[in-house]
Amino acid sequence: MTIVRKAEDDYMEEAKEIFLQGGLVAFPTETVYGLGADAMNAAACGKIYEAKGRPSDNPLIVHIAERDQLDLLTASVSPLAERLMEVFWPGPLTIIFRKRPEVPDAVTGGRDTVAVRMPSHPEARKLLAGCGVPVAAPSANLSGRPSPTCAVHVLDDLQGRVDMIIDGGPVDIGIESTIVDVTSGELKILRPGHITKDMLEAVVGTAEHKNTWKEEEGPPAPGMKYRHYAPKGTLILLSGPLERRIAYIQKQMQSGLHVPVAILTTDEYVEYLQDIFPGVSVLSYGSGAVDEAAKRLYRLLRECDDLDIKVIYSKVFERSGKGYAVMNRLEKAAACRIVEV
Ligand code: TXA
Ligand code: MG
Repeated sequence: MTIVRKAEDDYMEEAKEIFLQGGLVAFPTETVYGLGADAMNAAACGKIYEAKGRPSDNPLIVHIAERDQLDLLTASVSPLAERLMEVFWPGPLTIIFRKRPEVPDAVTGGRDTVAVRMPSHPEARKLLAGCGVPVAAPSANLSGRPSPTCAVHVLDDLQGRVDMIIDGGPVDIGIESTIVDVTSGELKILRPGHITKDMLEAVVGTAEHKNTWKEEEGPPAPGMKYRHYAPKGTLILLSGPLERRIAYIQKQMQSGLHVPVAILTTDEYVEYLQDIFPGVSVLSYGSGAVDEAAKRLYRLLRECDDLDIKVIYSKVFERSGKGYAVMNRLEKAAACRIVEV
């Protein structure tokens, strides 16, 4: 049974009890909704994997409300990590630390490190402070589905598999936190996000993207090897001038094989494209601002699923600043199908 509580409801005692009993609570953060369990309870964390259908070698991020709670998880906080926490916490930055032995393998996938973040969302902060335990929480979607950016997405994926969902409305950022590893003394960005390389470099000097890897070494964050964020249909990213993208889609559609089709564009071109492609679902990332696109991305992919879309053609974004993170998610969702027209 899944109970849904609104942010304004008084849910704290119930939520606390669920954590205490080793159950699962889904809650909003500023990035995406998380599926939480008491991070120090290995059995409870095991339930997260079960509920999501998540591979057991893909570790979880631990969420804390206060800096003091970090001491439960790690005994080694470098000056570099201190500086990052000072500037970016609470907020959408996850930092990898050497773990204490008390942190269960179920959280870390058997690694000797633990990923920690202090979210800024008021509801997340309230829940984390109120329940008093560090909370392990991956995104609250079924493994392989786009991350949830509102409570309905969580319900769609996890009804009956999660004890409580706290509905805090749609999230602000819409893509998952930036993950950094500073355990080597240098800053490596394992997953790009809302906090960009430039923002990190302004604070710590140099940062390096490490979200690609050599086959023989394996990915630095285990989650990177899985096909993430995938819609049910085939997503194709089209780069190049609009008129050529249109010609490409027209040619592809002539075969008539792949209906229904969706096109993801920006507000400016919705009407224009709808006239050219009647019967196609033309959906918008918004004004074209990359923050807005990030916020809408997963919702659009889920909308395509609801419409049973077989092929989705999306515009691309410039791979700089926050666009880098948006393109990272789009490329994963597209399994790297990018066509330069
Ligand atoms: O914004 C977010 O980070 C959201 C919200 C709920 O906080 N959470 C989230 O969790 O995106 P998840 O499980 O979907 O992604 C966690 C990522 C995975 O790619 C995992 O491999 C990586 O974090 N990770 C976790 N622990 C790690 C560790 N010790 N070393 C390297 N990567 C780690
Ligand atoms: Mg996820």
